[in-house]
Amino acid sequence: MPDVFISNEGPVRKIRMNRPEKKNALTLAMYEAMANAIDDAGKTDGVRCLIVAGTQDVFCAGNDLNDFIVMARSGSLGEPIVRFLHTLARCEKPIVAAVSGAAVGVGTTMLLHCDQVIASDSAVLLTPFVSLGLLPEAGSSLIAPRLMGHARAFSLLIMGKPLTAEEAWRAGIVNTVVPAAELDAQALNVAREIAALPPESVTAARRLMRGSVEETVARIDEEVEAFKTRLASPEAQKALAAFLNRKR
Ligand code: COA
Repeated sequence: MPDVFISNEGPVRKIRMNRPEKKNALTLAMYEAMANAIDDAGKTDGVRCLIVAGTQDVFCAGNDLNDFIVMARSGSLGEPIVRFLHTLARCEKPIVAAVSGAAVGVGTTMLLHCDQVIASDSAVLLTPFVSLGLLPEAGSSLIAPRLMGHARAFSLLIMGKPLTAEEAWRAGIVNTVVPAAELDAQALNVAREIAALPPESVTAARRLMRGSVEETVARIDEEVEAFKTRLASPEAQKALAAFLNRKR
């Protein structure tokens, strides 16, 4: 089974992050596969809604931290990461997220681009960017305060306070909290419901609701530049090394 598993169920395309032995931490190849699947969905009339999911125990542990260390040395952020973030921001098809277990870093910030977020009662959203010496990405510095208000976004993005599924629902970034065993079925039901709506009307309405995509993409690029500087900083080097050495 590949690290990103793509399947189509009628008009619904499911993108499953599938690297459970590393808690679905995203490698460059995984970003590339996800960007390709989203990009292709946009060009395929038969696909009317996307689902992004993880595995049973974890949604996504964020970027692979080993890759961050390599990127810090080269002073770059992998091109597939930036491409994935742009593709997500520019995606014109509705996206449903099915979140089980931990959603860390980009595992949380990608949810801010989704139209419906279904979370299992085990879900925890967490963005430890700042404690890693880094900063929020994926346009989250722009989108999260709009969705949750500045104070709650500050707790999440800067202070790294985790949100349980229930708390994320109260903050307005999760639609429904369901028992873990029902997560996949509920997400598929919601995606099918969206897919059954008149597609051109959905696209037009969604475009209006999301506001300026170019503003989001510009913020992603601004964050990327600042992120590269942070990655190379002694603060980040120390924090990343501490995570990777913690079991040795
Ligand atoms: N990058 C690389 N490897 C990661 C990873 C990441 N982001 N997250 C988890 N892993 C690896 C661990 O190193 C471990 O590998 P090993 O078995 O070879 O030692 C394996 O996945 C299992 O992780 P573990 O920490 O033992 O699982 P857990 O259930 O105790 O905790 C998490 C799960 C997600 C809470 C924890 O792994 C974590 O905090 N990961 C880092 C998340 C992070 O900081 N992401 C970046 C945000 S910017």
